[in-house]
Order: sequence, then structure tokens, then C-alpha cells
Amino acid sequence: MAQREHWGSKIGFIFATAGSAIGLGSLWRFPYVTGENGGGAFVLLYLIFTFLIAIPVFIGELIMGRKAQKSAVQAYSNLSNQSEKWRLVGWFNILTSFLILSYYSVVSGWTVNYTLMSLTQFTEGKTNEEIRQVFDILASSGDICVFWHFIFMLLTVGVVYGGIRKGIEYWSKILTPALLAILIFLFIYACFLPGFGKAVEFIFYPDFSKLTTKGVLEALGMSFFTLSVGIGIILTYGSYLKSDDDIPKTGLIIGAMSLMVSILASLTIFPIVFSFGLSPEEGPGLVFKTLPVLFNQLTGTLVISTVFFVLFLFATLTSAISLLEVLVANLMEVFSWNRKKAVVVSGAATFVMGIPSALAGSGTLFGDWSKMYGKDFFGTIDTLTGSWMMPMGGLLIAIFVGWRLGKVVIIEEFCKGTKLRALLPIWLFLLRYVAPIAVFIVVLQKSGIKI
Ligand code: PHE
Repeated sequence: MAQREHWGSKIGFIFATAGSAIGLGSLWRFPYVTGENGGGAFVLLYLIFTFLIAIPVFIGELIMGRKAQKSAVQAYSNLSNQSEKWRLVGWFNILTSFLILSYYSVVSGWTVNYTLMSLTQFTEGKTNEEIRQVFDILASSGDICVFWHFIFMLLTVGVVYGGIRKGIEYWSKILTPALLAILIFLFIYACFLPGFGKAVEFIFYPDFSKLTTKGVLEALGMSFFTLSVGIGIILTYGSYLKSDDDIPKTGLIIGAMSLMVSILASLTIFPIVFSFGLSPEEGPGLVFKTLPVLFNQLTGTLVISTVFFVLFLFATLTSAISLLEVLVANLMEVFSWNRKKAVVVSGAATFVMGIPSALAGSGTLFGDWSKMYGKDFFGTIDTLTGSWMMPMGGLLIAIFVGWRLGKVVIIEEFCKGTKLRALLPIWLFLLRYVAPIAVFIVVLQKSGIKI
């Protein structure tokens, strides 16, 4: 059997994992969901959930992957003495990644579209309202959305086809630092806008009266989503780790980076919202509608706008790569396929699955969907995966690592290569008790069962 590929360097692994974590979740989903949920209190909960639940589970996932040296399905199976039930959890992870990638690619396709529109200076001569309407036109043009969704999937397939070192690691080492640099540059710009103070208040002042039970579940889902945790991605990346890599430190670094990017993105977007009298509750179009309005006011629109959307594209690409890699790695292991076959089959299947999401805004497919589900197809998949499937997956990982894997194994894996041994008891407590109980309570509440 071919030897399992491993990361070429520690920094390559950090950038690849940070690249998976930092993406649409921080730059697109976090700001708009924060806007819909009233700001500060939601952000505070998100911070708490990230530290107390998502990061401990993240560390658990890395441990599980490194121990098994396999991807989700085989990892669950091998580490549980071939239990069929746990193996199914691996498949559940794959299904979640598949569904997320299908709609993630649609949003990423919008990003490709905006990058090119920036180059053609689409905001020139338009009023603010007209600039905002461009997004509605895009979202309701089914054919254009499908086209960009296709192009984006091609890009993703191209990188994943290259494998771990030459594909994922190589590109992440370039794209992730570039993304951070561009974001900081834009944030500095936003600091000088008149709405900056109001934005800071909106994001940091917790008004709990604005928080609903739905918001609590969303905050939990968001902490999982932005860290890519709970669906076997981090597990797969962990399986490419060597035995002396420092897992706890990696967990903390990536957690802090993803938090920082979410907050920075919001501190860039909300000043614009408030400076131009826009509404924070704009929904999925928030970033695409507000930022071009700002760019249009600045000198150098073409450059700034293009740079920003390229950043956005990098961020989504490194995340999409990780989502596709989970499908590919599992298919290779379970069916002994070669990389090429696994990449083509999973890329094509994801493209097809994404078509109804791409057509959601135009109403050309499943036109009456929202009358039944309250959200269009795209929104349904977004909520189903982000608010339900990821927390459930995270809960199962916490239970598996915390209770099934055996204390000896996890203590050994936690301590190998780290100086942070003192954190072990805290981590164990969070993983074994706090994470499962908190996820369980939040999910129950949302199901309408009040305790
Ligand atoms: N963490 C990614 C982001 O913030 C999204 C993602 C979710 C990526 C799940 C992989 C898996 O955009």
C-alpha cells in the first residue's frame, strides 16, 4: 500500500488548517448572522462557545486523526474495534462536508464574479442603491450562478488533485498569509470611517434582550463552522501530522486566528454599514452589498475592490479545498480509489448537488421550496449543516474521543510534542463534560424541548 502523505513542514500544516478555518464563515457568514442576531450578545456567546467547546473538540479531532492515521470513516471504524455504528458517524461527517461544499461553492462563485466585476469597475456611475442591487441581480440569475459555481469547483478540484504537499500545503502557504495582510489593510481603512464607533458598540456591547434561542444555537453552530470542526476535516488534516507535532498549541493558535479574523471582518464591514445608513440585518448579501458601496467612495476603487475580492477568493478556496479533501481522502481509503478518480467523482457530485442552491435565488428550481421550509433551498442547506449537522458531529466526536478512545491514548497524544501539558486536565474536563452537555442542551432547546 502507498505510504500516507504527511505535511512537509509545521508551518505548512498551520497555514493549511488556518486556511480551512478562515473562509466564508468569518468573512461572510459571521458578519451577516451577527447582524441578524443583534450584535454584541451574539458575539460574546460565540467567543465563549469557541473557547469552551469548539477548540477542545478541535484538539480532540486532531488527536483522533493522528492516532488513526486515517480519515473519518476508517478512523471511527479502526479506533472502535470496527463498530458499525461509529463507522456510520464517519459517513455522517462525509455527508455534512458534501452538503456544505455544495452551497459553499455557490457563494464562492459569487466571489469569483465580484472579482471580475471589480476589474471592469462595475460601480462606476452607479448610485449606492444601484450598486446594492447588483447583488440581487446576480443572486436571481440562475445561469450565471451555476456558471461561477462550476468554475469555482474546477479551481478546487485542480488544487486537491495536486495532493497534500504539492497541492494543499503549497497553495495554503501563499494564500493564507496574503489573506491576512489584505484584511488588516482594509481594517485600517475602516477605522477612519465615521461609523466605526457605532460598529464597535454594535459588536462589543452585549444587549441580551436581542438574543433569542435561535441565536444561541446559531452562535454554537458558528463556532463550529468557523473552525471547520465537527465534520472530520480537522481529523483528516490531523492524520497527515507527524508524531512530534504540537496538537494543543496548534488548536489554540488556529482558534485564536479564526476568532481574530471573524472580529476583524466585522470591524471592517459594520463601520461601512453604519456610515452609509445601511441595515445590519441584510442577510447573506451583506458583504457583497455593503463593501462595494465603500469601495466606490474611495480613491483607487479598482485596486481596492479587486484586492478585497481576491482575498475573499483565497479564503474560500483554502476552505473549499479542505472540504473536498475530506471527501477525496475517505473515498480513496474506503474504496481504494486513486486520487484522480476520487477527486473527479466527488467534484462532479458536489457540482450537481450545488445546482439547486445556485438556482435558489432565481426560483427556477424548487420555486415553492421556501413556502414549505421558510427558507429557500440554499438557506435550508446552510441552516441544516451549520446549525444542526456540525454541532451534532462535534458532539459525537467529543463523546468518541472523550469516552471511547481511552484515557491512556488521549493523554499520550495530547502530551506528545507539547509544552502545554498543564492544560490537559482543563481540556479533558471541557471535552468530556462541558462540550457534550452544552451541545446537547442547546440542541434540545432549539428542538422546542425546554429544560
Ligand atoms: N471554516 C470555514 C469558514 O469559516 C468553513 C468550513 C466549514 C470549512 C466546514 C470547512 C468545513 O469559512
